[in-house]
Amino acid sequence: MIKPLVAGNWKMNGIAKSATQIINLNDGISGRSANCDVLICPPSTLIMAFSNMLKDSPIMLGGQDCHKNETGAHTGDIAPEMLSDAGAQYVIVGHSERRMDHKERDKDVCEKAQAGWRAGLKVILCVGELNGERSADLTLNVIERQLKNSIPEGSTPENLIIAYEPVWAIGTGLTPTTKDVEQVHSFIRNYLISSLGAEKGSNIKILYGGSVKPNNAKELMSVPNVNGALVGGASLKAEDFAQIIAAYE
Ligand code: PGA
Repeated sequence: MIKPLVAGNWKMNGIAKSATQIINLNDGISGRSANCDVLICPPSTLIMAFSNMLKDSPIMLGGQDCHKNETGAHTGDIAPEMLSDAGAQYVIVGHSERRMDHKERDKDVCEKAQAGWRAGLKVILCVGELNGERSADLTLNVIERQLKNSIPEGSTPENLIIAYEPVWAIGTGLTPTTKDVEQVHSFIRNYLISSLGAEKGSNIKILYGGSVKPNNAKELMSVPNVNGALVGGASLKAEDFAQIIAAYE
């Protein structure tokens, strides 16, 4: 049995006073049955402060991106070792906003994933098709290319999580049908099994992301091979995020 993960990606949102959201979330989920793991990926400026606040909490922390190197002349970048030092246990790599805004290619994503492992972080690796690619019936081709070129050798259920995020569903309020989600997740599952073997491939979590909200979480999370969610907008409000987590109660 795979333990699901509900992960919140705050993107470029959150300042010191957003700590109240973390406190509310912690209060909101404490005492409830923990059928899923809970992760928040705030801006890196907040990881250390949140980590100090969450010492006795089941809420885990992650970074939203990392550089492939440990140190060096890379102004503005953050090394996975820095995320880990600040209290992160996870890092997201290959988010479509990074792929678009920073022209990250599959090869870069692969190197970032390896760097995350070097620092002892679990890697959430995002894949997903653009709207035009879906219309042209290229979804599975795109996903296959991204998986093939961005998953490093040495992947295991302990160090890798895949997040399927159709780019056109991110922040738009649109979601694929559950049938479409099922098709892509089963494709990813089969890909993982054929490339890593049944033991590893069957146990790697595959998250769905893209407009997951309190009102659709339960339906999306019940699709076969959906092992949790990567949530953007709805993770910013503790109440909404706690309701999404409650899909697993
Ligand atoms: P969204 O973002 O939930 O706001 O659509 C998801 C994501 O980008 O991870």
